[in-house]
Amino acid sequence: MILDKPKHGGYNLKRGYYMQDKLIDIKNEALAQILQATNEKELEAIRIEYLGKSSGRLTLIIKKLPNLPESERAIIGRFANEVKQTIEEALKSQVKITNSERQANISKTEWLDVTAPATTPPEGHIHPMSQTLREVIRATNKLGYQTVMGPEVETDLYNFERANMPKGAPSRDAQASFYLDCRNSKIQPGEILLRTQTTNMQARVMEATKPPLRVLVPGKCFRVDDVDASHGFEFWQFEGFVVDRNIKMTDLFGTLDYILKELLPGIEIKFWSTYFSFVEPGIQVVAKCTICIGKGCPYCKNNGWSEILGAGMIHPNVLSFAGINPKEWSGFAFGMGLSRLTVLKNHIDDLRVLTNPDIRILKQF
Ligand code: PHE
Repeated sequence: MILDKPKHGGYNLKRGYYMQDKLIDIKNEALAQILQATNEKELEAIRIEYLGKSSGRLTLIIKKLPNLPESERAIIGRFANEVKQTIEEALKSQVKITNSERQANISKTEWLDVTAPATTPPEGHIHPMSQTLREVIRATNKLGYQTVMGPEVETDLYNFERANMPKGAPSRDAQASFYLDCRNSKIQPGEILLRTQTTNMQARVMEATKPPLRVLVPGKCFRVDDVDASHGFEFWQFEGFVVDRNIKMTDLFGTLDYILKELLPGIEIKFWSTYFSFVEPGIQVVAKCTICIGKGCPYCKNNGWSEILGAGMIHPNVLSFAGINPKEWSGFAFGMGLSRLTVLKNHIDDLRVLTNPDIRILKQF
């Protein structure tokens, strides 16, 4: 209180006294509001309410100061200034408090525990076909085979003729082919095709490299075929072949026995004799169907057994076409469907599952 209250009734400082009371009210109300404010927006509204240039409650009082009698003007003026400073300081310190409270709240809700174990990002894995291929490469590497890849677009010469399948040979019928359109090129129609077998690489390797040879050829092959649970027009094969001195049928059996035990442990197999023009004699390996365990199902066409592999002793013609003397050298070859092997290993009842890109399917393997 800066003005003495008039003692006996008469308010000789009436207006000044009234203004002083007003200022005290303004100060108290402003401070109460400021203390309750929780953010800068509210504080700014309070500042405008009290200190706003044109119609702030304190500003209006200050504007009226010149009307006071001179004796009161200085006293009330000073008091009004003090109130103004008090309000300004209170606003400033409350801004700081609300800021630091907000920080504190943020750190309560958005804190980061640097010691917490990180969430692992989802992990993919190797496609089942690639897993099988890696196993094949590993198993044959142990036997000293080198892996080579070959062209998917191949000439009739290497796909068929050098494999002892001359033009018109009935054995070609089993490998209905996709020939490439040769219009507007120097190539004769029927000379270029999508390879039907990885056997195309036998002659290519034999021509380029002198025996002894131990080679693995994995790769994609193509045949005109209706798509069903065990057939596709595009499939992966791998071919193994060996050329050396004194290679006999027993070497082939021993090799197949080792590789199949590595790839399909516990599987039951049978050997049948069969015909392939590039081997003599030729054999076929059939495995007990892992889907129905030999009972018969759509995958094995109700046979209980499914063909997994063709093999045999390399035909002397194939060796001599490549410039290798069949009297000095002999060899064996085997070819197997990689997709077939993969479905057998994983008990998948349909080859088409392997080319289905649905991640939920692939996650199961
Ligand atoms: N090339 C044969 C096929 O695709 C498989 C095979 C390879 C057979 C090597 C015997 C020897 O059917």
